[in-house]
Amino acid sequence: MAAADPITVMILGAGQGGAALLELCVQSPQVTVVGIADKNPDAPGLRLARAMRIPTTQDAAALVERNCADLIVDVTGDPALGALIASTKSPEVELLSGTAARLVWLLVQREQDLRDQLIHAEKLATVGTFSSGIAHDLNNPLQGVLGLAQLILEEQDPVSMQSYAREIIETVHHMATLSKRLTLYARGNAPGDVCDVPVEEVLEKAVRMVEYGTHMGNVDDVEVVRVYGPAPSIRIDAGELLQVFINLITNAVQAMQGKGRLTLTIQPESTGILVSISDTGPGIDPDHLERIFTPFFTTKESGTGTGLGLHIVESIVKKSGGQISVESEPGKGATFQLRFPAAGRSLEGTEP
Ligand SMILES: Nc1ncnc2c1ncn2[C@@H]1O[C@H](COP(=O)(O)OP(=O)(O)O)[C@@H](O)[C@H]1O
Ligand SMILES: [Mg+2]
Repeated sequence: MAAADPITVMILGAGQGGAALLELCVQSPQVTVVGIADKNPDAPGLRLARAMRIPTTQDAAALVERNCADLIVDVTGDPALGALIASTKSPEVELLSGTAARLVWLLVQREQDLRDQLIHAEKLATVGTFSSGIAHDLNNPLQGVLGLAQLILEEQDPVSMQSYAREIIETVHHMATLSKRLTLYARGNAPGDVCDVPVEEVLEKAVRMVEYGTHMGNVDDVEVVRVYGPAPSIRIDAGELLQVFINLITNAVQAMQGKGRLTLTIQPESTGILVSISDTGPGIDPDHLERIFTPFFTTKESGTGTGLGLHIVESIVKKSGGQISVESEPGKGATFQLRFPAAGRSLEGTEP
């Protein structure tokens, strides 16, 4: 087999190891997973596979018998299954099992750790680029507190003093909320925190975070248009979805340089939802369109962009069984469209 030939793979075992292996395989265009098996119908790898419309089964032997892959990866650790595979698989099909499969699993785990760290590092970089906005937003109320404290020092009337003190308390509460929101975002996620998430709520949270960080709507003229239809929840890690939206909205606001129209759409589709984030900025150069999802591709000055945003957006969307696409006509803005399967569905509509 030549190095560039695509590889077809069957995965036996859909626990943590099988799920992580599946996730890694689908990120590579060279690898096609033709099926995944596990005795437990609720195994995380089976759920993920259903969302991505990869065939699943509880019967590993039947999958092996089909002999339709270049490689079988057995991460079940079940010795009885090993003997069964040996007797049913055709000789052209290679088998990765035992210690070799464990080694692959350890490497996959390491890759997953690195990716989680990358996602976190990118998050911190975003918070970093927001820092002047944040400093500004905290500085105003801080000056307010200072002024009120000075008033108290000079004030004789106890009733007025009390009212100044109350204002101080209110302002400090407001500042605490701002900073809490930010530290919550900057904190690492507990891995695998997947649940049914109301998309509109997360999208609105992202708008608030970007407003806070970039002064959109405050300093210049970004008009935010919301077109929200009734939409089902989706199954995803809420923290990661927030990161996706923050990235796309930040890109849009940066592209428009604080002037233009940001249109956010949530619309139900037969199998899930469509979220689109559209701006009236300069759009994306056709030569760049293919490269924007590549890690470190950026047209921004250092300090403004890392070039990791869209790469991470794509990886989060894919891992939750979704799809991302972009349309842009130079001079007329850009539109990013995200499709997610509704909780318990796959994008093509097959029931799990
Ligand atoms: N809404 C947009 N309008 C125009 N260009 C965009 C938009 N979103 C992304 N891009 C382009 O894609 C590049 C990569 O984006 P991203 O991965 O988020 O990295 P960064 O924002 O750090 O540059 C940007 O530098 C920019 O050239
Ligand atoms: Mg970006």
